[in-house]
Amino acid sequence: MRVSQTRGSNRKVLVLAGDGIGPEIMRQALRVIEFFDRRHIASFAVTEGLVGGAAYDAAGVPLTDDTLAQAFASDAVLFGAVGGAKWDGLPFDLRPERGILRLRKEMDLFANLRPAGVFDALADASSLKPELVAGLDLMIVRELTGGIYFGEPRGVETHADGSRRGVNTEVYTEAEIERVVRVAFDLARKRRGRVSEVDKANVMESGGLWREVAQRVRDTDYRDVELSFMYADNCAMQLVRNPKQFDVIVTSNLFGDILSDCAAMLTGSLGMLPSASLGSPDAAGQRKALYEPVHGSAPDIAGKDVANPLACILSFAMMLRYSFDMAAEADLVEDAVRHALAAGVRTSDIVQPNTARVSTRVMGDTVLRELEKAA
Ligand code: NAD
Ligand code: IPM
Ligand code: MN
Repeated sequence: MRVSQTRGSNRKVLVLAGDGIGPEIMRQALRVIEFFDRRHIASFAVTEGLVGGAAYDAAGVPLTDDTLAQAFASDAVLFGAVGGAKWDGLPFDLRPERGILRLRKEMDLFANLRPAGVFDALADASSLKPELVAGLDLMIVRELTGGIYFGEPRGVETHADGSRRGVNTEVYTEAEIERVVRVAFDLARKRRGRVSEVDKANVMESGGLWREVAQRVRDTDYRDVELSFMYADNCAMQLVRNPKQFDVIVTSNLFGDILSDCAAMLTGSLGMLPSASLGSPDAAGQRKALYEPVHGSAPDIAGKDVANPLACILSFAMMLRYSFDMAAEADLVEDAVRHALAAGVRTSDIVQPNTARVSTRVMGDTVLRELEKAA
């Protein structure tokens, strides 16, 4: 583990790059962090640790207690991606994915904000018609510490006759629903004032409870926000039919996972979508927070220097905005990304006619150059 203490900083950031393309994209995000320090705009005390398959190889578990303690001691965690074929045969509790799931659960990061915005230069890169996605600004709030991901009972049981039965359970308490819908209503207030609660209340009792709780919270404390309901299957269809109808979507862990990958393609590529995973505010108003691209470790392109680092860089911008109250600096990073794209520089996932296909590293170079120009 490398520890680089930056001078006089009170912003403690734990960096967990993970597996596959994780270290490649994180290298570019670290350059953005270093830029702020070098230009004396803001300094960050960055500690790097292992997670996922990398932690399993080094320590026999996908997240050590020591790394978890460091996450608790940090102001924010920047996470890359975990997973890969090498570890797919491991028992569930040792798989790389348990590393991120344990971080989310133990830090109680129940609200996962996944914003799907389209940069103008990428309106043509989406698999949808440009007019459907141009100007899109949609926020998915995914519940992140409950539901079928963590519900009991779970497992695979073997019957006397040797046949097996696999079980996972969708469980939500009213309190779990209430705290995440409040996050969605608060966000909607600062946006266009509309929340769509997405579930399968037509077949799942827990979905009915989501509706009841969302309606009660809205009627009690958020009468200025418009609340509507939609079934998750219809939502998947509406996202590709007319995504601009949505402002804020709030939904369960599993539906949020699936719908956010779908929303990612509206923005041009899964490699573009950042996220913030937030806990409840403490007495000082600070939330525990972890920032992570929505995509995974992309084993098919790992080690080739072709992955898109922008989701990871934009996740750092979300950290500036939500953990450090540095909106101007977050804008600086997002503008640098916007200008890099406008200059026609593209990693292979977003390459289009008349643009230059560049490596992960050169995309990082271009963002850095734009930052230097703007600072
Ligand atoms: P994935 O998101 O890793 O990849 C899906 C597709 O998108 C692949 O074709 C990949 O090349 C492409 N892609 C993803 N990120 C990209 C980027 N930044 N630039 C360019 N292209 C990109 O999903 P998968 O293939 O289903 O899963 C691979 C592994 O990642 C699995 O082990 C899975 O469990 C894990 N995973 C981890 C996370 C996480 O760490 N948060 C998220 C999703 C999946
Ligand atoms: C995500 C990922 C994770 C999830 C995996 C890696 C556990 O797909 O963050 O979207 O399913 O939550
Ligand atoms: Mn996912």
